[in-house]
Amino acid sequence: MRSLDEIQFWSRIMKEHSLFLKLGFRCEDTQLIQEANGFYALFEQIEARSHAFSPATDPEQIRKFNTEVFTAATHIWAFKRKILGLILSCKLPGGNNFPLLVDHVSREANYFRSRLVELNQGCLEPLPDAIIDENVFFLKIMADHAKFISHLLDPSERKLVEQAREFSHDFDQLLWQALDLSSMRPQSQTPPLLSQFLDQNKVSVTSLRDFKKTARDLIEACRIKSIIHPLLADHVYREAERFLTLIEMFEQCLTGSAAPNPSFRY
Ligand SMILES: [Fe+2]
Ligand SMILES: [Fe+2]
Repeated sequence: MRSLDEIQFWSRIMKEHSLFLKLGFRCEDTQLIQEANGFYALFEQIEARSHAFSPATDPEQIRKFNTEVFTAATHIWAFKRKILGLILSCKLPGGNNFPLLVDHVSREANYFRSRLVELNQGCLEPLPDAIIDENVFFLKIMADHAKFISHLLDPSERKLVEQAREFSHDFDQLLWQALDLSSMRPQSQTPPLLSQFLDQNKVSVTSLRDFKKTARDLIEACRIKSIIHPLLADHVYREAERFLTLIEMFEQCLTGSAAPNPSFRY
């Protein structure tokens, strides 16, 4: 059932990526727009189906569904990499998708794919490795978000742009720290170090999450100047929430309060 939660969250994310990419294409890129629409419909349908399962559903049926979603995630990943190639070889001059944004959404698709494989095979990483790997992945995602926000706000929103830049710097530092901890594996994987690592990340993710929430509300109420789609503001807010939930889950696993049996990973 853990996989259904993952599918519900990420299929909505993939659906929204299709919309954001579409909005960044030029009017004449009709083929790409059509492809993006196709992915939107595909993930909308996957999202709806994932909500229709119940705890009583045959696990075999869920496994089959997971495999199907895996294929869809692979296809959208390939689509995103294709777009990145087109942008980087200057085949879409005047388009509005930043290369880093396209790379970013392709990394999220790839993450979704690996989660599906892990959950389908029932072989999750040991907790100390999961803590480092998930944080390395999400810290980079958060650092990217801060950069997108600072670039998509109107330059005249000086205070907000400055704040977004500070978040970008903060998360770049945290990412380097995470990579250092990763490089010092396995000796770095002591409970006190991992617990301090989570504490520190949690503080920054909480304040970034709050900043995104404020930005989302201001954009929604049309109180600030930007070219950020309200749905994009909500999208990055939800991804920060996801990261926070994961950190909290790891904290509980580390202290043993959420590990009813020794085989429990996360
Ligand atoms: Fe995303
Ligand atoms: Fe993201």
